[in-house]
Amino acid sequence: MTMTKKKLIAGNWKMNGSLAANEALVKALLQGAGAPACDVALCVPAPYLAQVQSLVASSSLALGAQDVSAHPQGAFTGEQSAVMLKDFGVRYAIVGHSERRQYHGETDEGVAAKAAAVLANGIMPIVCVGETLAQRDAGQTEEVVKRQLAAIIHVNGHCISEIVVAYEPIWAIGTGKTATPAQAQAVHALLRAQLHHAASEHAAGIRILYGGSMNAANAAELLGQPDIDGGLIGGASLKAADFLQIIAAAA
Ligand code: 13P
Repeated sequence: MTMTKKKLIAGNWKMNGSLAANEALVKALLQGAGAPACDVALCVPAPYLAQVQSLVASSSLALGAQDVSAHPQGAFTGEQSAVMLKDFGVRYAIVGHSERRQYHGETDEGVAAKAAAVLANGIMPIVCVGETLAQRDAGQTEEVVKRQLAAIIHVNGHCISEIVVAYEPIWAIGTGKTATPAQAQAVHALLRAQLHHAASEHAAGIRILYGGSMNAANAAELLGQPDIDGGLIGGASLKAADFLQIIAAAA
């Protein structure tokens, strides 16, 4: 299972882009990516789902969303449901990104409910976990990421093989301060062991992505770690040449 598992390189555009910039970026990626040896996803802002859906149609690039409501429909102003994402051919949805946890008060339980909502619609959740610098300095990294993942397993354990986990140390996001390959691998191994405990037959096949200042220069070494199965890339996913180099490094 481990041998056949394809790496996943997912770009998280965050709140960036425009119709013109998106078109130029996706066309450059389509031209440069050819038939990538890994899975590639673009997690785009909600208003651009339709645009990017048509740009990546019948290509090897998959469409992703950055967040989702836990509810199927109704009076939830400003939210998008998993049913709606499915309507646009979305294959992956990031849930529990630290920016959502930090700026929108998302809880472990709420994130688990979002994962359940997307799984129920055949979309793979990319579940983000990660510690702050203060938590790392206080020696709490293991406790924090395990608590975050445990909430997901508790609610979604029955379809754990359809989940992607992303370890994103908050202190490494957008800071240019990447976790060292050894630091990242150590946490990925903890997460793998936790998945193994919950679902031993599936644990090896679950992809655990690293996110946090991954770029063209450091991707190969990070992706070479035994438990790093891909990347969730912010800033570098907005530059075609850089993102293509990361895709190549995942081959
Ligand atoms: P950067 O790659 O910009 O550090 O962002 C990482 C991230 O948060 C991806 O979700």
